[in-house]
Amino acid sequence: MDVAIEGARLHVAVLGEGAPVLLVHGFPFSSAMWEPVGRRLAEGGHKVLIPDLRGFGKSKGAPVSDLGTFVTDLLSLLDVLWVNGALPWVGFSMGGYVAFEAWRRRPDRIESLALVDTRAGADDPAARDGRLATALRVEREGSGVVADAMLPKLFATATPPSQRQAVHAAMTDAAPAAVAGALRAMAARPDSTPTLHKISVRTLVIVGAEDAITPPRDAEVLVGGIPDARLRVVRDAGHLAPLEQPAAVADALLEFLANPVLRRR
Ligand code: MLT
Repeated sequence: MDVAIEGARLHVAVLGEGAPVLLVHGFPFSSAMWEPVGRRLAEGGHKVLIPDLRGFGKSKGAPVSDLGTFVTDLLSLLDVLWVNGALPWVGFSMGGYVAFEAWRRRPDRIESLALVDTRAGADDPAARDGRLATALRVEREGSGVVADAMLPKLFATATPPSQRQAVHAAMTDAAPAAVAGALRAMAARPDSTPTLHKISVRTLVIVGAEDAITPPRDAEVLVGGIPDARLRVVRDAGHLAPLEQPAAVADALLEFLANPVLRRR
């Protein structure tokens, strides 16, 4: 469905019935990256909300320059959908950065966190400069610039060429203005590492064993810093674990969502 909010029109896939859970996509993807996992969560008795962040997928709106705008959008969307209390937030990569920002702004809306193939750290100066330069190139040359650069780093060795090609096509199709805006927003994001200890909700950290963008050592930092966190490493998955191994990622999420008390690692 499409929902009009202040400054944007957001598309959100709503799957299943039950306790709500929010899945936030990464960069430069859309809700489509979460659909295989979302279908399984819906079969497992959840109402799964998978928005396209503004400018991505089927959502419209002026590009963001900070991740806080994505958070404001998501909170407005939840209000329109009458999801008023706290719910589990599942953030993949940039979606994880969005979840950290949401935690800073509105921890009362977050019941638990699942951080998937993401990291707490900010960009170092070289990475920041690289993102800003890439944003300018994307505005001139299109999103294929990002698609070409990211493709070699996204997958596990075993991931088939057909899936790689489909992901490359989807990234190339992303709207350049949204891609450039998200690059600038990610470059400006703060370091969440020093405040990980303030995350007081149960947290599941999931990482593809072969993730070359946010590798397992980044996941270890999350688990080491968040007081009630546990780690799940997904075999035969790279950065795009939710697409490469949707059953394993969904099973980990279903177990997490079903169990209020988790052992620490
Ligand atoms: C993503 O998958 O969202 C991006 O790889 C995040 C990033 O570029 O830091």
